[in-house]
Amino acid sequence: YAYDLLVVGSANADLVIGVERRPAAGETVLGSDLAVHPGGKGANQAVAAARLGARTALLARVGDDAHGRLLLDAQRAAGVDTVGVLVGGAPTGVALITVDPSGDNSIVVSPGANGRLTPADVRAAASLFHASRVVSAQLEIPLETVVEVVRSLAPGNRFVLNPSPPRPLPGEVLAACDPLIVNEHEAKVILGAACVSEEPADWARLLLAKGPRSVVVTLGAQGALAASAEGVVRVPSVPVDAVDTTGAGDAFTAALAWRLGTGATLEEAAAYAARVGAVAVTREGAQESFPTAAEVDAL
Ligand code: RIB
Ligand code: NA
Repeated sequence: YAYDLLVVGSANADLVIGVERRPAAGETVLGSDLAVHPGGKGANQAVAAARLGARTALLARVGDDAHGRLLLDAQRAAGVDTVGVLVGGAPTGVALITVDPSGDNSIVVSPGANGRLTPADVRAAASLFHASRVVSAQLEIPLETVVEVVRSLAPGNRFVLNPSPPRPLPGEVLAACDPLIVNEHEAKVILGAACVSEEPADWARLLLAKGPRSVVVTLGAQGALAASAEGVVRVPSVPVDAVDTTGAGDAFTAALAWRLGTGATLEEAAAYAARVGAVAVTREGAQESFPTAAEVDAL
């Protein structure tokens, strides 16, 4: 394979303001100076994998504008192959982000060009699928495009999905996931009425029953659960002081996808991914906060 990982997904300019607390409806609060960072769940995954040493390609769409150039520059600087990044059709996606003193964020995304990444764009990139070991996706692009990703998987591709932001998924997509990676909120949206328990291990089992070959449930400071037909295993968290959690989930998914492609078990890959996410939350921003493999080893 030419690529360890092909990421199909979004690229956003992250417009970030630090706040003491979020405004209520009709209220104005003053925040920090504005910071503009390269972000988007797809672009974040690609940079995270490349920084760890994975040979990585990104299939995405940005606008023909300054934000698009910021994103392309960040991908290239990290060593991501941008042959699959399409340009034009709408303004680059934007994420309006507030970060509070605990490092937690609230995000509003304007999809822009991400919403114009079409099933035809996926079909035109068939050679990238054939050249890749693992394919990963998220849900900041149209669902019909994600369905086409699943239909375009080449023999031997392993597919990893982080359904964020979450919505109910067709069985065809769920059945392709190995693993489906969800946090609590995503698990509950995807299970819908089938979410008959408050126990994370039950969510993992209920999600498995919907078709994925494996499931990872991330639980923040409580670590993660790795679930497959062999059972449910708890993966410990790595305690750190959070500064900015933005993009840490994307780094977790990318690291896990890459490690699986190198032959790691689901439990091993999730434990490594937890360390990658732990480093990422100790630094500001998304892509700028992602560690090298040496920094993960030093943790
Ligand atoms: O997951 C974090 C990302 O979500 C941010 O970079 C922002 O662009 C939003 O897409
Ligand atoms: Na961060």
